[in-house]
Amino acid sequence: MSIRNILIGVSGGIAAYKIPFLVRILKKKGFDVKIVLTSSAEGMVGIDALRTLTGHPVYRERVGEYDMNHIRLEEWADCYLIAPATANTIAKITHGIADNLLTTLFLSVTVPVLVAPAMNVNMWENAATQANVKLLQSRGVSILPVGEGELACGVVGAGRMIEPEDIAAYIDLGRFDSSLNGKKILVVSGPTEEAIDPVRIITNRSSGQMGNGLVRAAIARGAHVTMISGPASSAVPEGCKLIRVRSAREMADATFAELESNDAVIMAAAVSDFRVENESGEKIAREKSDSVQLNLVANLDIAQEIGRRKRKNQRLVTFALESGGVDRAFEKMLRKGSDFSVYNRIDESLEKATATQTILFADGSEPIELYNCSKEVCGAAIMDALVRRL
Ligand SMILES: Cc1cc2nc3c(=O)[nH]c(=O)nc-3n(C[C@H](O)[C@H](O)[C@H](O)COP(=O)(O)O)c2cc1C
Repeated sequence: MSIRNILIGVSGGIAAYKIPFLVRILKKKGFDVKIVLTSSAEGMVGIDALRTLTGHPVYRERVGEYDMNHIRLEEWADCYLIAPATANTIAKITHGIADNLLTTLFLSVTVPVLVAPAMNVNMWENAATQANVKLLQSRGVSILPVGEGELACGVVGAGRMIEPEDIAAYIDLGRFDSSLNGKKILVVSGPTEEAIDPVRIITNRSSGQMGNGLVRAAIARGAHVTMISGPASSAVPEGCKLIRVRSAREMADATFAELESNDAVIMAAAVSDFRVENESGEKIAREKSDSVQLNLVANLDIAQEIGRRKRKNQRLVTFALESGGVDRAFEKMLRKGSDFSVYNRIDESLEKATATQTILFADGSEPIELYNCSKEVCGAAIMDALVRRL
């Protein structure tokens, strides 16, 4: 089912002040949004601002609108997002307590529910909160990751609500479930950099957006995700184990170190095929010569090496950014030993937020065509295909 109407339940965390920003982002993406507030949230966010930005009344438990709103709102919504979700609200929805409109709606909606926790690190790490989150997850509720860093209380740690842009990207995926609960997925993403000298590099135009879409799609299905990322221009999603690398050789080392512990590897990185053999230890000075000769030598084909090393029950997904057409992409997939490959058209994918792709399967299954879809939607489709093969 495609999502159009988003109901946001706002509970009383300080991060509620970010909800007007989230509403603006979602409205710009074409979603319709309605808001339900708990009484604690009323002091944390401007109700007039929310009413203006959504173009709808704001549903509050103290106002006479309560009536049968939970029935009408549940019929209207395609997705129920609880953001920020306080420790208190998470505890209530875990145990079926329905003492306000937000928690009553949790019990009555039949659409996917996403929860964006927001709290102090001690509240987040408390055994009660962790047990509640696990129980909700096991029942198919999608728990979005929390951010790390300085919290509103001044303490540094995990528990911050992820940023509105990141929450909106999860909603763009269109699908959330627990189909990858307990699975470990490795996503290798972004460009690589090959040094010419201490200041100059050879790189490529990969933005890392496809890798971000894949990471979110895996997290939204309950997977434990490790991301190995080259120096990408787009901000990586929170909630995964992030390993930063620069060169193709660093990427290869990090990937092989993580290979054993993961159920699937998705090689979405634009790895440099070549590196500079005669890299200079000092900055090459212009005055010294009019021309410089760079000798390029081939880097290891990381995907092919994973294909060779992977266990029988591990899955490998590769990407082919090709000018050579779909046949060449298919041949490449078989050569690399990948279970399936995503064929990208260069002019319709590189540096863009959208992509036109064909997912090709080594087992001969019918290819899946994705026309001009957001990289979140592509990530979701690729993850669905992976779920069926894990
Ligand atoms: C200024 C302020 C900020 C708060 N921030 C948070 C928070 O970020 N996360 C949280 O779980 N509770 C937070 N609390 C505590 C909740 O507001 C309190 O547990 C309340 O009962 C939550 O009610 P609700 O879940 O019905 O909205 C905060 C309280 C205050 C006064």
